[in-house]
Amino acid sequence: MPATRHSSACSIRRSAATVLAVAVLALMPCMAPAQDFQGATHLLPFEEENLQYGKTASTGPIARLQGRLDRGDTPLAWDEQRGYLPALLKALSVSTNSQVLVFSKTSFQRDRISPQNPRALFFNDEVYVGYVPGSTVLEFSEADPRLGGVFYTLDNRKDAPPRFIRTDACLECHASAKTMGVPGHLARSFQTDERGVTDLLTGTEIITHRTPLTDRWGGWFVTGRHGDQVHRGNLMGAASFERQRTEPNFAGNQPDLGAFRNHFDAGRYLAPTSDITALMVLEHQLHMHNFLTRLQYEATLQLKAYGHCNYIKSPLEAFLRYLLFTEETPLTAAIQGTPAFERDFAAGALRDPAGRSLRDLDLKTRLFKYPCSYLIHSDAFAALPPELKTRIYARLWDILTGRDQSPEWSRLSTADRQAVLDILRATQKDLPESWRSAGPARGA
Ligand code: HEC
Repeated sequence: MPATRHSSACSIRRSAATVLAVAVLALMPCMAPAQDFQGATHLLPFEEENLQYGKTASTGPIARLQGRLDRGDTPLAWDEQRGYLPALLKALSVSTNSQVLVFSKTSFQRDRISPQNPRALFFNDEVYVGYVPGSTVLEFSEADPRLGGVFYTLDNRKDAPPRFIRTDACLECHASAKTMGVPGHLARSFQTDERGVTDLLTGTEIITHRTPLTDRWGGWFVTGRHGDQVHRGNLMGAASFERQRTEPNFAGNQPDLGAFRNHFDAGRYLAPTSDITALMVLEHQLHMHNFLTRLQYEATLQLKAYGHCNYIKSPLEAFLRYLLFTEETPLTAAIQGTPAFERDFAAGALRDPAGRSLRDLDLKTRLFKYPCSYLIHSDAFAALPPELKTRIYARLWDILTGRDQSPEWSRLSTADRQAVLDILRATQKDLPESWRSAGPARGA
């Protein structure tokens, strides 16, 4: 698949961006990036010999769909309003109910994006799709099991046969401190003016499940209920941020996109929502994908250099903290999004004999009922080098059986640890034999 590469121009622009970021950070302590581990934001040499990102073909879902298109196995219907988008979402098994809308001018089609013409994002466990009404460019990213984020555009024209073009120029923004220094995914939150232009001094580096709700969703439309929890979604322009101070949530708790009819016609979008639950799942997932890629790269580099990956301790511990939601921002009121997203998200869940799954949502005090990311079942996790997975499983065993009672795991109750252990034992494919033969771990 052709890849357009602008590495030298990119690295110049990236280093200029780094200088700017450092300067802005010095001014604004509240913008300090969330701490994962020391060096987590350093750019890894992913184009160099040991990793060869640009020279390696992707085996992810988009590359596989392109193979089916080439063979003529998957004809894509043309829709007069949205072109190939609906057919592509279907072919990639991405639900339209995962739709979220971003109106800040933050991504590469920013000239076309505004509160009057928000960008729609859709996602499943492996693929992200971007659609800007009125643009002929569809944007895609996938979580390739080895390469991490791989980016594509597709010319959305009736007279052009649908063809994904791998576009490594996207890494200008999609491989930086905000994506853990590897090709990856991101979501941010800014105050914007009425046109969606961002105020750089108000930005988050990246939104994850750790980000307090008060800092989230600046530049995004948000539908669904969240009680008295305050967030920055649905606000644009200084007057609305000012009004929020005295009337918290005056723009929150919206049932559907009809609430924003003064800005845009919801009929142009595939779903009537920019769902709060979808947003929260997306933000957990983006950073999780980046973490998996970072671990894949770190382990590959260490294995090549030393023949083992024993030096990976601090990224590994940070990964476990993220995997097990130990620093998740607590919910103080119930979240209620569209049942349609919840239903589609639960489809295909792997369940233990008691019917429990890592995809079960809680939405009362936290995002998920059982605090271990469902992406542990993903191809990206499965593709981690076996040496690393052995270490991950050994640490998980210690934490989940309660042998490790260190303070960083104190948010995991005994019941949480037991539930996650039971679910993993029933659903995770490549567990070490010792997990199965060790008998019930209850009370360990
Ligand atoms: C100017 C910076 C920038 C460039 C260049 C850029 N993006 Fe993004 N992209 C973003 C930001 C910021 C987000 C987060 C959502 C938002 O603010 O729109 C994002 C989100 C996305 C997402 C959603 C999930 C994810 O992977 O983060 C997709 C898909 C995406 N971009 C595709 C692309 C593709 C394809 C290209 C290249 C053709 C590209 N982007 C180039 C800034 C950029």
